[in-house]
Formats: sequence, C-alpha cells, structure tokens
Amino acid sequence: MGTDEFGIRPGEEMAALPAEFDAGLHFIGRLRTPWRTRQDCPKNGLQTDAVCTVDVDPAYAPGLLTITGCTHLILLYWMEHATRGLVVQQPRHAAGPRGTFALRSPARPNPIALSVVELIARESDTLRVRGLDCLDGTPLLDIKPYYASTDSRPEAQVDRAGADT
Ligand SMILES: C[S@@+](CC[C@H](N)C(=O)[O-])C[C@H]1O[C@@H](n2cnc3c(N)ncnc32)[C@H](O)[C@@H]1O
Repeated sequence: MGTDEFGIRPGEEMAALPAEFDAGLHFIGRLRTPWRTRQDCPKNGLQTDAVCTVDVDPAYAPGLLTITGCTHLILLYWMEHATRGLVVQQPRHAAGPRGTFALRSPARPNPIALSVVELIARESDTLRVRGLDCLDGTPLLDIKPYYASTDSRPEAQVDRAGADT
C-alpha cells in the first residue's frame, strides 16, 4: 500500500516535504484489528463493535499500571500506509476540496491518527478495546486517559455556516 492506493485526485495539492525530519518516534506497540484492507476498515471507531487488541511492547508495559481505572482511552497511532504531504484533499463525501487540517483523513504530513476507545480488559501487556478504525498491525504511538470532563465538547461543529472556502 502507498501512494498508489491513496492516489491523488483532481483538485488535490501536495506540499514539498523537507528532506530531514524534525523529531523521532518510538512505536510502543501494535494494534490488532480484523481489517486487512483500507476498504474493509470502518471510517471511525463508532462504526464498529469489533473488539480489537492493543499489543504493548513489554518494555512499556509498566506504563499500563492503574490503566484499568480508565473506562475510555485516547489511542494515538501511525497510519503508516498513508500518503504524506497532501495539504488539499477532495474527500469523496465532500462537494469541494478541503484542507488536510480540516479533515480526519490519514493522508497528512505526519500520519498520526486518534481514536477514543472503550477499555474492556487488560491482560498483562495487552488491552482489549472497542472503537478502532485501523488496519491490522498499525503502529501504536501513545495511550492517554480520556477525560469526559475536559475532552468532551458537545457543542463542537465541523460544517458550520459561514466557514471560509
Ligand atoms: C478516516 S481515518 C480516521 C482515523 C482516526 N480515527 C482519526 O480520526 O485520526 C480511518 C481510515 O484510515 C484508513 N487506514 C486505516 N489504517 C490505516 C493505516 N495503517 N495506514 C493508512 N491508512 C489507514 C482506513 O481507510 C480507515 O477507514
């Protein structure tokens, strides 16, 4: 998978990416899901009831201490097969082009994705969760507790009237 499957459509724009990276990352594990192709994946985690597995590398397993106190987690993961550099996109669902930073598309300069998942169980280095939307084997970047008190914004909108075009 790569730019062929995530090909550029008419009206889309690429930015020239710098030759050097500004920072490094450590993958802390892998996400195990039922989906082997992009077409099979849900578009977001609310579209599925599938129970998925978060395999945390043993070196980072001590970081799971007390995590079972959390009912919901924010998972950050790396969409490794996505096109990088797209700054204007033409989503199939939208009438016109949209800026990458106004989209949840995996195609972006740093292909970081997030989902709020329900934590069902912990077994040693493994978490069982519900609410993922990624391919099997997707690298895991981070896990954080989801705080309804500070992370929830029920008044939020995306397609509000009067937005720039
Ligand atoms: C629309 S994105 C949303 C991602 C995340 N929930 C977010 O909001 O950041 C989900 C889609 O990304 C694609 N995808 C899933 N896993 C991927 C991967 N490892 N690399 C590239 N694309 C992936 C699939 O087409 C899936 O339906």
